[in-house]
Amino acid sequence: MRLITAISPITILWILVTSNLTCSERLLIITPTPSYSHQIVFRVISLALNKRGHEIVTLTPNILNDTGITNYTEIDFGFIYEKIDDTDMSQTRWNLTQLAGLKTRLLTLGHNIAEDALSHPDLVKYYTNRTDMQFDAVIAEMIMTPAIYMLAHRFNAPLIGIMSMDLQNCHRFTLGSPVLPSHSSNWELENLTGLNLSFWRRLINFINTWWSIHSWFNNFANKQQKIAEKYFGNNIPYITDVAKNMSLVLINQEPLLAYARPEIPNIVHFSGLHITKAPPSLPKNLKAFLDSATNGFIYMSLGSNTKSKLLPKKILEIFANTFANLSYKVLWKFENDSYHVPPNVFISKWTPQQGVLAHPNIKLFIYQGGLQSTEEAVHYAVPLIGIPFVFDQVYQVMKMVSLGVARYLDIVQLTGSELYDAIIEVIDDKGYKDRMLALRALTKDKPYDSLENVIWWIEFVMRHNGAPHLRFNGVDIAWYQQFDLDVIVFLTITLFLVLCAILAIVGWVSKKLYNTYYNDISNHYVWFKDKTKSE
Ligand SMILES: *[C@@H]1O[C@H](CO)[C@@H](O)[C@H](O)[C@H]1NC(C)=O
Ligand SMILES: *[C@@H]1O[C@H](CO)[C@@H](O)[C@H](O)[C@H]1NC(C)=O
Ligand SMILES: *[C@@H]1O[C@H](CO)[C@@H](O)[C@H](O)[C@H]1NC(C)=O
Ligand SMILES: *[C@@H]1O[C@H](CO)[C@@H](O)[C@H](O)[C@H]1NC(C)=O
Ligand SMILES: *[C@@H]1O[C@H](CO)[C@@H](O)[C@H](O)[C@H]1NC(C)=O
Ligand SMILES: *[C@@H]1O[C@H](CO)[C@@H](O)[C@H](O)[C@H]1NC(C)=O
Ligand SMILES: *[C@@H]1O[C@H](CO)[C@@H](O)[C@H](O)[C@H]1NC(C)=O
Ligand SMILES: *[C@@H]1O[C@H](CO)[C@@H](O)[C@H](O)[C@H]1NC(C)=O
Ligand SMILES: *[C@@H]1O[C@H](CO)[C@@H](O)[C@H](O)[C@H]1NC(C)=O
Repeated sequence: MRLITAISPITILWILVTSNLTCSERLLIITPTPSYSHQIVFRVISLALNKRGHEIVTLTPNILNDTGITNYTEIDFGFIYEKIDDTDMSQTRWNLTQLAGLKTRLLTLGHNIAEDALSHPDLVKYYTNRTDMQFDAVIAEMIMTPAIYMLAHRFNAPLIGIMSMDLQNCHRFTLGSPVLPSHSSNWELENLTGLNLSFWRRLINFINTWWSIHSWFNNFANKQQKIAEKYFGNNIPYITDVAKNMSLVLINQEPLLAYARPEIPNIVHFSGLHITKAPPSLPKNLKAFLDSATNGFIYMSLGSNTKSKLLPKKILEIFANTFANLSYKVLWKFENDSYHVPPNVFISKWTPQQGVLAHPNIKLFIYQGGLQSTEEAVHYAVPLIGIPFVFDQVYQVMKMVSLGVARYLDIVQLTGSELYDAIIEVIDDKGYKDRMLALRALTKDKPYDSLENVIWWIEFVMRHNGAPHLRFNGVDIAWYQQFDLDVIVFLTITLFLVLCAILAIVGWVSKKLYNTYYNDISNHYVWFKDKTKSE
């Protein structure tokens, strides 16, 4: 026994060292979406893989720029931020034109990003004129640039998809994950889903969902294919076929904080990677303000893509006036220092959010429903008021409301008294905090560390050169066979014909019977009439 305890640390060390030596692989990680909150999570994974001894080449808009890290090559894609400068989401709930415009712009942005990424000279030099260049896996962001999947084909390496939010319906359909138009997990329909919907609502949801999938395949994917062909030649497979062969799909979404749904086997969820072990320290003046909030403080932030300062003036006044009436202090992430606020309110362009959420005086977090912020709120067990703007924010807030840890407010109809009552309710009713603590305990109760699990799966794919045994091959057959639509249509028509035949026979028989009967009656009647006449 003693021998074993003495030997095991050495054995483990030996295994670690040799595993690093023998399994050092090269990975290409392409995460081009210009969104800081998405990128910080991907960076954690890239760095962890590098620490495991792998060589990393990564294209990202948020480079670390640390020359001290070996075998870690960053391709700086930061200039892509200039292309989305005007993407502000603060107006979208009032202005449907702007919301529709935003969605169209994002699709166009997807084409621009794919084009800029694939034509980046630092990336081009890896895939042109180099027959010696080998990668053991390609990790590609899935959100709106499927053209980059072709890099996996170019290097003949397994493709791993990564998402900073739950999958979109176009991905689900590609991979064979069930598409559920009216289920709450369909975040693309925002708040129009749920149980107990009317038939007409479900019909509209069905049409919307399938129409968006159809146009993704027939417009968006075709355009992306053209972009891929521009850089990899005409002799390449179709991008959706490459996507279907994805070995693994990594999704940054804690299943507990989403609506449970059936899923395909090669999906691996992870969460909370951006949450730091020790919360970041606060700037001096902010720390002094929060420390002095002995009665508690409220933190309000609408995230990085929704600017508080661009909200309508009327709404800003509602917030400022309501905050003034509270006995709590308020920290408000606000992008204009010269905005006049009540004395109990502290505004700041930027806050180290985790440091604020970790502060013992915090009572409530008013937010826009961002995924990362939701995870942080659960990690630090801070009750919520959600005021969602776009995309998955509505779904995220609705889920938190259903868990009893948040209140939902609609920014369009917001009134001062409604805001005031919601704040008082969430702070005074201790149930919100208690349920948040229980939820936190639930999310922490896992057999593995989320990051280690992701790394294990990525290495698994590299060890076995893909994971075809996890692939759902149901997507290889035609869509109508996948959903047995041909069988349903056949049975419906058959049933209809049988019913028609039965009806025809019943009709024919009853007509016959009727005729016989009628003839009898009329004969009788005629006889009767004749008889009365003659009398
Ligand atoms: C860098 O990665 C290669 C394998 O791709 C490996 O042989 C080499 O030892 C690594 N260098 C360092 C300093 O880790
Ligand atoms: C990265 O570091 C180099 C040298 O220190 C510097 O010239 C460059 O501007 C930095 N890039 C970014 C995006 O910070
Ligand atoms: C809505 O947004 C569009 C596009 O940004 C803009 O042209 C229009 O003036 C806006 N309408 C209103 C009522 O704000
Ligand atoms: C690849 O080789 C061709 C022909 O030798 C040359 O014209 C081209 O510039 C090279 N491309 C790169 C990225 O080196
Ligand atoms: C969904 O949101 C819209 C717009 O904010 C609102 O008018 C509608 O009442 C909401 N529906 C539900 C079911 O919450
Ligand atoms: C759906 O409707 C049924 C019957 O009307 C009701 O019992 C159930 O609670 C409803 N479910 C939801 C989620 O509203
Ligand atoms: C995808 O995988 C299937 C089954 O392994 C294979 O037949 C097909 O050629 C692959 N398609 C592409 C585009 O790699
Ligand atoms: C900041 O707020 C002040 C006062 O409300 C206003 O005059 C100024 O235009 C604002 N600046 C920006 C950039 O929004
Ligand atoms: C805030 O207080 C003022 C005066 O004390 C009052 O007029 C106003 O209605 C209050 N607002 C809210 C939202 O309670």
